Amino acid sequence: MGQKQINKISKSLIELGLGNSERKKKINVFVFDELDSTNQWVSEHIAERGDQSLLCIAESQTLGRGRSGREWSSPAGSNIYMSFSCRPDTERKNIAAISLLIGLALIRVLKAKGLNDVALKWPNDVLVRGKKLAGILIESKRCAEHLILIIGVGVNVKMPIGFKIESEMGWSDLSSIDATPADRNALIVQFYLECEKVMRQFFEQGFSVFKQEWMSYDGFAGRDVKIIDQGELQYCGMNMGIDDSGCLLVRSDEGVKKIFSGDVSLRINNED
Ligand code: BTN
Repeated sequence: MGQKQINKISKSLIELGLGNSERKKKINVFVFDELDSTNQWVSEHIAERGDQSLLCIAESQTLGRGRSGREWSSPAGSNIYMSFSCRPDTERKNIAAISLLIGLALIRVLKAKGLNDVALKWPNDVLVRGKKLAGILIESKRCAEHLILIIGVGVNVKMPIGFKIESEMGWSDLSSIDATPADRNALIVQFYLECEKVMRQFFEQGFSVFKQEWMSYDGFAGRDVKIIDQGELQYCGMNMGIDDSGCLLVRSDEGVKKIFSGDVSLRINNED
């Protein structure tokens, strides 16, 4: 890492990094200069690919989607906008927990690169020095009789100078903390492989084996928080961490309430 020139995203470098030639099951990699949304693209093309995995990356998005119907600012040039498909081996699994695992996978990769100020905010925001560095949007689609997850991740690597983003909690990028990756292709490959790894382990062992590690990165641990759903305040209390299935536990005078994954965000209680 360090302040370096950022190279273009390259399909061949990513395929090489993924070791596609040695893999029995190929990942189909697609790289575009511009798309409306990489999640949208995967959703539209997954049916043609049978049970093969798709990984789609764009240099910019015109209609980048965020959680809760928000927009994800996706200027051209030097961030990461990627989506990949995942077919859970069973629909009985606690699919919502996958969203926590993808955030954890990104944290592991960033930590391995020497970035220490990173944290998670339930369910899946990745923060650096308290500001949003990356967002994760998981959508699903039914193809024939199978449930397919479309996992979309946006990582702010280097925003154009003067670029403005509406964000309640503020945003950051790797460049402003002097951690610009020399090679986004390597970062994409490492992150994708880490996602595969955590999901494989999750399908075998469930979420509970990740719980302690996830909590060790919880940037809001023990803090007063409020839960907002669809713009409405739902609940206030203290963040007690997560349970074995990845639900957030919030304690108030009424006891401990379990908050399920979904359209919920978390904020510092005394912010207004
Ligand atoms: C969030 O609101 O925090 C989630 C943001 C997810 C953004 C990514 S960028 C790649 C993929 N394509 C989209 O349209 N959205 C996701």
